[in-house]
Amino acid sequence: TSMGLQASSDNSFVKKLQSSGRSLVVFYGSQTGTGEEFAGRLAKEGARYRMKGMVADPEECDMGELVNLKSIPNSLAVFCLATYGEGDPTDNAMEFYEWLQNGDADLTGLNYAVFGLGNKTYEHYNEVAIYVDKRLEELGATRVFEIGLGDDDANIEDDFITWKDRFWPVVCEHFGIESTGEEVSMRQYRLEEFEEDEPPERIFTGEMARLHSLRTQRPPYDAKNPFISKILVNRELHKHGDRSCMHIEFDIEGSKMRYEAGDHLAVYPINNTELVEKLGKLTDKNLDQVFSLINTDEDSSKKHPFPCPCSYRTALTHYLDITGNPRTHVLKELAEYCSDPTDKEKLKLMSSTSAEGKALYHKWINDDNRNIVHLLEDIPSCKPALDHLCELLPRLQPRYYSISSSPKLHPTSVHITAVLVEYETPTGRTNKGVATTWLASKLPNQSSEPPTVPIFIRKSQFRLPSKTQTPVLMIGPGTGLAPFRGFIQERNFAKEDGKTVGNTILYFGCRKKDEDYIYQEELEEYERNGLLKLHLAFSRDQPQKIYVSHLLEQNADELWNVISENNGNLYICGDAKSMAADVRNIIVRVIQQKGNMTEQQAVAYMKKMETQKRLSTDVWS
Ligand code: FAD
Ligand code: 2AM
Repeated sequence: TSMGLQASSDNSFVKKLQSSGRSLVVFYGSQTGTGEEFAGRLAKEGARYRMKGMVADPEECDMGELVNLKSIPNSLAVFCLATYGEGDPTDNAMEFYEWLQNGDADLTGLNYAVFGLGNKTYEHYNEVAIYVDKRLEELGATRVFEIGLGDDDANIEDDFITWKDRFWPVVCEHFGIESTGEEVSMRQYRLEEFEEDEPPERIFTGEMARLHSLRTQRPPYDAKNPFISKILVNRELHKHGDRSCMHIEFDIEGSKMRYEAGDHLAVYPINNTELVEKLGKLTDKNLDQVFSLINTDEDSSKKHPFPCPCSYRTALTHYLDITGNPRTHVLKELAEYCSDPTDKEKLKLMSSTSAEGKALYHKWINDDNRNIVHLLEDIPSCKPALDHLCELLPRLQPRYYSISSSPKLHPTSVHITAVLVEYETPTGRTNKGVATTWLASKLPNQSSEPPTVPIFIRKSQFRLPSKTQTPVLMIGPGTGLAPFRGFIQERNFAKEDGKTVGNTILYFGCRKKDEDYIYQEELEEYERNGLLKLHLAFSRDQPQKIYVSHLLEQNADELWNVISENNGNLYICGDAKSMAADVRNIIVRVIQQKGNMTEQQAVAYMKKMETQKRLSTDVWS
């Protein structure tokens, strides 16, 4: 899109607002859909305050037009922006973000507010939203309401509705408007159901974009056009114990897909058949029925919430998240479908922002870990229309895995290392991870065609140094080992090729040596042949815990040597919550002690290592 002022009417959001009599535009920077969902909810609620709203994707808009928004009386721009990785905006907000950073537009007269979506377990918490909020003001715009920060590690739904509840009265005050007080429960999409004779070739069956793309495969492959990969190997890595960790090899031969050690593999999973069938029963709907949901807002660039037409079974299997905790706006709409007034009140209470309502939501939905199926089972008088539910549920997301192979050794296959997710909930149910449970069923055997999985590769910044002589120190307990297996393969390949390879040091940790020490034989072989220096922390083989962080502190001299004298690279991979933070703290302490610095200097030193890509993290929660 162009950032110029001469907007074509296609990407002119100001024209769209004007022609449809709207004054509120809600932009979203969203990767997984939550930001987009929040934007939609705000735009819809505008009607309650005589501010007809519109959702807009900054990637599809000429954002330079923000200077002209003031031509619409009482206009307001809201930004729902997520932060990813190292403080990065989402792909669809990238260009807007750079425009703000590099440009000097005069935004005087622009009214705005920002809500950020982030996760506190990551270093760069909500940095994108915080920057945009500050930068818009610098450029002369008027902040109508203070920024809201959502924390996905705690309860982002709670953060959002709490912010929203305070936001609207301030907006009304600012523009001198009075609430109409009306509860708006308008459907965003209208339903069309098809007769049984609808030609099957026109019906989507799980494609992400192009019809039949799963059958007639055409490169290039990406998030919209995944490659159907054959599973070549799927084996258990744990030797004992009741947990499971899978080593899976995907065939990418002939796909023209390339990868590098450190990239991520994305998998499009499907939902469990039993859960899907249950939803059909609970809503009294024939899942073979083919339907379309069509946006009632003709100005919206999004015609359908997911590829339509498709059967309800396809929507629930491929397109919708039916295992997450339903958000409060879903409960609010579900309340209307309860025949029992007590059930209705309960759902209404849980969707409210009262202290009692929030506490109940927290207990009954979050702590008890209920998904939509559990909710409908436990509130039997609630019989929602399935098409409405399909409108309300978020999209099923691809799952990402750190690639655990090197293309130097495995040019035609991609390996991953994935722990099976399965746990009991407080209501006595067993919840199974969508992707990992599905992958666990994908076992190749000699006698039949190999099982297949839709995949694509996502490039990352997690990279080995360009020179093989540069020492590397890798910290990866548990599945955090995954990308380092690829790194080690790559360094070994270089060594066998006659190149000089610097120190290659690995800190690995797991519970017990004879239980979950994954890839033990491979690692020991690399150690024997002199490539690898291994530090192992078995946390549960003795009474007191031993973690990689403890070993790192014991070997402070080695760590400092890699950092200071050899200009080496450090890598942390695995659990974002406690491990990554503990390890970073140790690194700061070692820099401080060995480098004779103050804590502040040591932190600055570490930050510099990060900007130089000498300290990289690949963590998830
Ligand atoms: P889901 O259906 O998504 O369920 C997982 C959710 O269930 C969790 O988010 C949590 O909310 C809940 N949950 C899980 N356990 C419990 C519990 N005990 N109690 C209560 N709630 C619980 N995973 C790997 O195994 N290996 C990797 O190399 C890897 N690399 C990753 C790299 C990146 C960049 C990212 C973002 C993630 C990575 N992951 C990796 C995680 C992976 O993407 C999936 O999140 C994971 O496999 C679970 O997916 P699932 O669909 O099976 O589970
Ligand atoms: P634990 O489960 O016995 O507490 C892989 O998950 C390994 O990382 C396990 O041995 C686990 O130990 C350990 N681990 C847990 N928390 C950690 C932390 N904060 N730092 C380093 N390792 C940790």
